[in-house]
Amino acid sequence: MSGQRDRYAVIGHPVEHSCSPQIHTVFAEQTGQALTYERLPAAPDAFVATAGRFFADGGAGLNVTLPFKAEAAAHADALTERAARAGAVNTLMRRADGSLLGDNTDGIGLLRDLGAHLAAVEGARILILGAGGAVRGVVPILLEQAPARLCVANRTAARAQAIAADFSDLGPVTGCGLAELEPGWDIVINAISAGLSGDMPDIPAVVLDNGPAAYDMIYAETATPFLRWAAEQGVARRRDGFGMLVEQAAESFHLWRGVRPRTDDVIARLRPGGARHAP
Ligand code: ATR
Repeated sequence: MSGQRDRYAVIGHPVEHSCSPQIHTVFAEQTGQALTYERLPAAPDAFVATAGRFFADGGAGLNVTLPFKAEAAAHADALTERAARAGAVNTLMRRADGSLLGDNTDGIGLLRDLGAHLAAVEGARILILGAGGAVRGVVPILLEQAPARLCVANRTAARAQAIAADFSDLGPVTGCGLAELEPGWDIVINAISAGLSGDMPDIPAVVLDNGPAAYDMIYAETATPFLRWAAEQGVARRRDGFGMLVEQAAESFHLWRGVRPRTDDVIARLRPGGARHAP
């Protein structure tokens, strides 16, 4: 049977922990789509060879996770505008002529989850902690929603300033070091991956003085270190990144299959154990 189904997978290193197979399997059941979705581990230097084999064998699409998102952008034959702006691809689709289209659904995933469950972005003063690849994926779409301002703050200030410079044509974005941070935020988003190992980076507590909503792009079975810290500082509105994971998956599914799955029941049903990173 599975030979007749379109094949999809998530490629990464490591990829054993990924929830994407469960999420896409539920989406496929829900929408009546005939497909399979597996994990595709690749050694750090073997993205192109592994992805190439997958597509040569008839694979229809890949989700791309750490550490291959930038390499996937370089490898795709064409990019959506949002993927080109991010310089990162989390979704590859084989088109009818065999060429590969690269998209980035991380930003829309964050926006959908944030907007539906935590806080409106339009008019908000937004602080993002961290300036890695994940931040590049979400800054453009946040700026498109017309926030009052967006600040990217990072341990290495130059990386934050580089992001601000790259996206300043889209809206009011600035970059700075973590130590320079001041109060006055409506939404604080954590994208510092140190949270994955359970450590809490040195973030000045003044950033929470205004009682902002706190969003962690990382998720975990129990509260993430960032959200635990926010709770200790009295922040009431908090959400982790599991919803973002499901929402970005839904957007990938829509690109591949042309149908949009429902996400809320999937978020409630599949919430897993252990700290993870999307997807
Ligand atoms: P990702 O794709 O998840 O964004 P990344 O590109 O490796 O991963 O970026 C990791 C981010 O976490 C960076 O912003 C990094 O800060 P630096 O640019 O200064 O390296 C941040 N980070 C990681 N460990 C950290 C720590 N212990 N304290 C503060 N920031 C940390």
